[in-house]
Amino acid sequence: MMQKQWVLASRPSGAPQVDNFRLIQTQMPTFRPGTALVKTLYLGVAPVMLRYMRNETVFERPMELGDVMAGRGVAQVLQSDCPELPVGAIIQARLGWQEYALIDNNQYPKPFILPHTDLPVSHGISTLALSGFTALVGLREIGKLKSTDAILVSGAGGGVGSQVAMVAKALGAQRVVGIAGGQDKCRALLSKMAYDAAIDYKNDCLEARLDELFPSGIDVFFDNVGGPLLDLVLARLRRRARIVICGGISEYLLEDGDRYQYKNLQNLGRQDAKMEAFFVYDYEPHFSGYGEELAAWIRAGIITPIEHISEGIETLPQALVDLYVGANFGVRMVRVGDAS
Ligand SMILES: NC(=O)c1ccc[n+]([C@@H]2O[C@H](COP(=O)([O-])OP(=O)(O)OC[C@H]3O[C@@H](n4cnc5c(N)ncnc54)[C@H](OP(=O)(O)O)[C@@H]3O)[C@@H](O)[C@H]2O)c1
Repeated sequence: MMQKQWVLASRPSGAPQVDNFRLIQTQMPTFRPGTALVKTLYLGVAPVMLRYMRNETVFERPMELGDVMAGRGVAQVLQSDCPELPVGAIIQARLGWQEYALIDNNQYPKPFILPHTDLPVSHGISTLALSGFTALVGLREIGKLKSTDAILVSGAGGGVGSQVAMVAKALGAQRVVGIAGGQDKCRALLSKMAYDAAIDYKNDCLEARLDELFPSGIDVFFDNVGGPLLDLVLARLRRRARIVICGGISEYLLEDGDRYQYKNLQNLGRQDAKMEAFFVYDYEPHFSGYGEELAAWIRAGIITPIEHISEGIETLPQALVDLYVGANFGVRMVRVGDAS
């Protein structure tokens, strides 16, 4: 039987483009001892994939031109010789952009079973997987969130950011302000993503809005963007503030020499503040516990996953391209197939 796969056709020179990929028809993989044959249900896209395409990550295996595009997704196990991946289980794993994959339990990070069969499978790409875990790790482990903190989030309408205010509230926060580009996205922050106030970085005067919304300064900044925006926040820290460096998407397309030079770093020392980056995979031993906590908050109505889903494997390249122009509301993913 044949299946569809997206392979890397060329490396991007700036942002990813649709023609960096080629759709091919190829034989479905043949089941082998020691493996599991799985059917892809959903595939997620994330900014880090640009780095896979450029061979810039250390933890994904190097990608050559013609290779199946790397990516994680949710799949159903069809045949298995891995006790950890039983037939019928719905799992989250590194699948690649293809309809069927042969995987094993030695992948890094390991595949994991989604135990919450009462919740939609798509949540295995959003809140019950890396986007949700990243929000939780960033706020609790790195941000050491307290209920009285004045909290600011950049990239607030994206995959991770769309969940940060809800997770912060589940952890006891009272007020969370989000930054996003454009009026529609800012309205969605307030109406769908549990933010209490929104700053439109494309149209508002950022300094004025930050001063208005944080007259006594910022306690926790969950940063997905970096660059000049981070510098403005560095100038407005409260004593013992915590800056959580989740990502720096504004810098990803720049060459080393063109990156923003920060002017306000000395304010960390003046305010006894802390700035710390983290990598969510370093918390892999806790993923199952995080999944339980987040699933309980979804069932209680405290968290509503915000998922931006397009239909069909053909839409994958466009879904990735969209991230770099901010066209996504929430976690961007593609539905590839149905569970049987
Ligand atoms: N530390 C970790 O372990 C970890 C894990 C997962 C993700 N991350 C990082 O976290 C960040 C967010 O990931 P994500 O999956 O939420 O990405 P995402 O869904 O693509 O969202 C990022 C948002 O950033 C905004 N943006 C894009 N370019 C921008 C620019 N030049 N300036 C300001 N805003 C810009 C876009 O919204 P607007 O319309 O508002 O511009 C976009 O929706 C990324 O940097 C990613 O690499 C880190």
